Amino acid sequence: MAMLNYLLDQMEGEKEIINCYSLDISPCIDCKYCYKKRACSIKDGMVDIYQKIDEADVIIYAAPIYFYGTPGPMKVMMDRFQLYWASFLRGDAPEVFVKKGAIISSGGGPFTEDQFKPLIIEVSEALKVQGAEIVGQVLMDAADGATLDQRPEIKDELDKLAALLS
Ligand SMILES: Cc1cc2nc3c(=O)[nH]c(=O)nc-3n(C[C@H](O)[C@H](O)[C@H](O)COP(=O)(O)O)c2cc1C
Repeated sequence: MAMLNYLLDQMEGEKEIINCYSLDISPCIDCKYCYKKRACSIKDGMVDIYQKIDEADVIIYAAPIYFYGTPGPMKVMMDRFQLYWASFLRGDAPEVFVKKGAIISSGGGPFTEDQFKPLIIEVSEALKVQGAEIVGQVLMDAADGATLDQRPEIKDELDKLAALLS
């Protein structure tokens, strides 16, 4: 949250944080409704999220890693992005990337080669199906042992990412 707030503070324009822990949404049930229609059969909090994503110029996914991946509430939301993935079946996939995307994450453990890989694969796919080109990522390892204020190199990376996203 500290990384996200720091990044957003440096960006102009209208901004909104969607907190996955506050969403009233159900898991995808693979009913395949979205294979034919650009909509979800489950009418819940995702209706609003789909609209916000469609309207956004920039999409930033921010999450700590939990067992190498995204925390449960974010995964529930991301599975509902099947609506976007199914655009390839419906034939209405965006032909070019029209949005900018970014990933920021923190991991409690010390850096390892694989530490952020599953999360990056997962979130990159979400951005791709939403028509967003990933312009950068900032990953903070050893996050349990330090605050953002104690990691000037991470702030530098966030400064550069803010410039790329603006
Ligand atoms: C359920 C759970 C799973 C976690 N799994 C990992 C992990 O696989 N790798 C890692 O480096 N840190 C892991 N952590 C530590 C978190 O990533 C870390 O506490 C977090 O990035 C710190 O940010 P926060 O203070 O905003 O939660 C895990 C923490 C929890 C609660």
